[in-house]
Amino acid sequence: MRKTIIVFTLLLVARILPAVEGMWVPIFLEKLNADEMKAMGMRITTDDIYHFEKASLKDAVVIFGGGCTGEMISSKGLLLTNHHCGYGQIQSHSSVENDLLTKGFWAKDASEELKNPGLTATFIRLMEDVTDAVLDGEATTAENIKAVKEQYETQYEGWTFEIKPFFYGNQYIIIGKEIFKDVRLVGAPPSAIGKYGSDTDNWMWPRHTGDFAMFRVYAGADNSPADYSEDNVPYQPKKHLTINAGGVNEGDFAMVFGFPGSTQQYLPAREVEYITEVYNPERIEVRDVLLSNLDQRMRASDEVRIKYAAKYARIANAWKKWRGENIGIRESKGVQRKKDLEFEFRRRLLSNPELNSTYGYVIDSLNHYYASLVPYARVRNYYIEVGIQGVEALRTIREIIIATRTFESGEIDEEAFMMQIGKRIASLKKDYAAEADQEALATIMPLYIKRLGELTPQRIVDIDRSNNGDWAAIAEKGFNDKFFQNHLMDFDESGKAKKFIKALKKSVLFDIAEALMDNYTDIVAPNFARLQNAINKHQKTYMAGLMVVFPEKRFYPDANFPLRVSYGKVEGFAPVDAVEYHWQTTDTGILEKYIPGDYEFDLPEDFLALLENEEFGRYANESGRLPVCFISSNHTTGGNSGSPALDADGYLIGLNFDRAWEGTMSDLNYDIERCRNIMVDARYILWVVETLGGVGYLIDEMDVVGFD
Ligand code: ARG
Ligand code: ASP
Repeated sequence: MRKTIIVFTLLLVARILPAVEGMWVPIFLEKLNADEMKAMGMRITTDDIYHFEKASLKDAVVIFGGGCTGEMISSKGLLLTNHHCGYGQIQSHSSVENDLLTKGFWAKDASEELKNPGLTATFIRLMEDVTDAVLDGEATTAENIKAVKEQYETQYEGWTFEIKPFFYGNQYIIIGKEIFKDVRLVGAPPSAIGKYGSDTDNWMWPRHTGDFAMFRVYAGADNSPADYSEDNVPYQPKKHLTINAGGVNEGDFAMVFGFPGSTQQYLPAREVEYITEVYNPERIEVRDVLLSNLDQRMRASDEVRIKYAAKYARIANAWKKWRGENIGIRESKGVQRKKDLEFEFRRRLLSNPELNSTYGYVIDSLNHYYASLVPYARVRNYYIEVGIQGVEALRTIREIIIATRTFESGEIDEEAFMMQIGKRIASLKKDYAAEADQEALATIMPLYIKRLGELTPQRIVDIDRSNNGDWAAIAEKGFNDKFFQNHLMDFDESGKAKKFIKALKKSVLFDIAEALMDNYTDIVAPNFARLQNAINKHQKTYMAGLMVVFPEKRFYPDANFPLRVSYGKVEGFAPVDAVEYHWQTTDTGILEKYIPGDYEFDLPEDFLALLENEEFGRYANESGRLPVCFISSNHTTGGNSGSPALDADGYLIGLNFDRAWEGTMSDLNYDIERCRNIMVDARYILWVVETLGGVGYLIDEMDVVGFD
């Protein structure tokens, strides 16, 4: 009886403890979070999560490629990440005849795995607080950083070290990494599963996407990182995750362990206004145009669809996030909440003259600098959106111009020059439809000029005037002249540099690219950097001030990519009046969304049959349904894709891949009421691998618990 009472109260405490905002640094968990995590239900210790010497969960989590998370799920280096994280690789093995994006791919054994040059899996082996050494006044911060890094590099041979500022430079942490370079594709479901709902459902709950893919990390014979070689063997990780197929339930403790890229929780209200009222709308508008052009072309041609699949998804992803962010900030009164905080900050300072003299000015100064930054930030955004992301030819020509300048100044010889630009051009042509690019130039330049008004670079104004603002004609000329057609599209590496450069300088695209670039590098970038420097200094002071003025608050550093832990619980949410979201989705919803022949919601026949037969076996939930996705209140951001969602025992229950639309403003202003991260249920992953993939050997090599 007594025992039950204790258990009951414990449960009650676990239930009523509110979920927690924040992405926490693994090495400080014991100090800052351990008690709370235990009270919320966690049964492992913080040493099980991160321990320098002992194999711990940190040894099972990797940076996948440049910007995602992945995790080890077998003793043979099997790596789980998102379909959208491995998308570029899956696409690179695809062609119209053998379209792995559409069909999916499953290696029947190791010999069928596909290599991916350039792809890496990075383990974090060490994190240490080196603030005192870095901020030691004897030398500059930069000198200290260099010295500390060198010291670690000699001590731990073979690891790569990086020192990162936390809390805007109020704290420094060194990170020791081990980078594996032979990572092979093992399996991916068809896009109809891995990207089900595509861009319509992206950033949305309820979700029915099986956003996962599997790779394998290979090592040299000694189990250390090695370049790709047929002789490499599957890497044996220090730790791999156990998978819990026993299922998740509402209210369960859940944590996400991964690599959140960047957040800006400590901006002044003023800057949040600029972001949501100026920068986001302008970037959204440019992408509206690009995306609608591309959408039409991709629907009309399979070839264009395959070539542009990854590019389209990338452009659409941020575009949609910014839209959600704007709505979220507005509806959650994010700016007002920041203003309230600033008011309280100032109010408390007023009663303490000493602190007031240190921090009292800082919000006003920040506001001043952020206001001065606006014109430069706007031109910079447009430069990135138009000259670098929007029109691919302009980006390539910009790179060619840079190479040309180094050639003309004698820094590189003709052979090196032709080789360099040959590489650039090859990468442009790889997945390229020149007609689409021409259309992009024709449609976004008028917008650029209209919106930037007098901030438009003079040379662009001149081009515009001398062509009566007819950008369709300008683009037509640019994409059909001798330079573009003969020298660029038909590049000959053994040709003469002089001839190439002569044609280049006569082309319209060169004029545009050079005008945008010079305006940016000569005028915008120096001012932007100067102001950003001042801002960084003041953000550092503001951050320190917040910590002093609100001693009762527990602060977490903004995301900056190194390993973080977010914890919370599995729970639904009610973002707006009369709408309440359930925490779990099932197979039922996949069929509800099914639209035969549609490019986002079609389903392959074999998969459809499996769903219709309801053969869910040991993967079904209590109601006999196949669990697909679930949400929880874990604070995550871009980079957390592919992160493991772990239960109270540290077992894998899901795979993080997205956030719900209503809460995408979490990067600027987290709100526990409406911010939810979205995960694929581990059972759905296993079911797809087993039934559709037919690669049971993969399940056999995993440690799965929870089947009853
Ligand atoms: N929104 C998720 C993240 O930010 C998933 C993106 C990939 N999916 C897509 N349909 N574009 O990365
Ligand atoms: N989808 C994101 C990623 O790729 C995750 C997020 O922004 O929530 O990292």
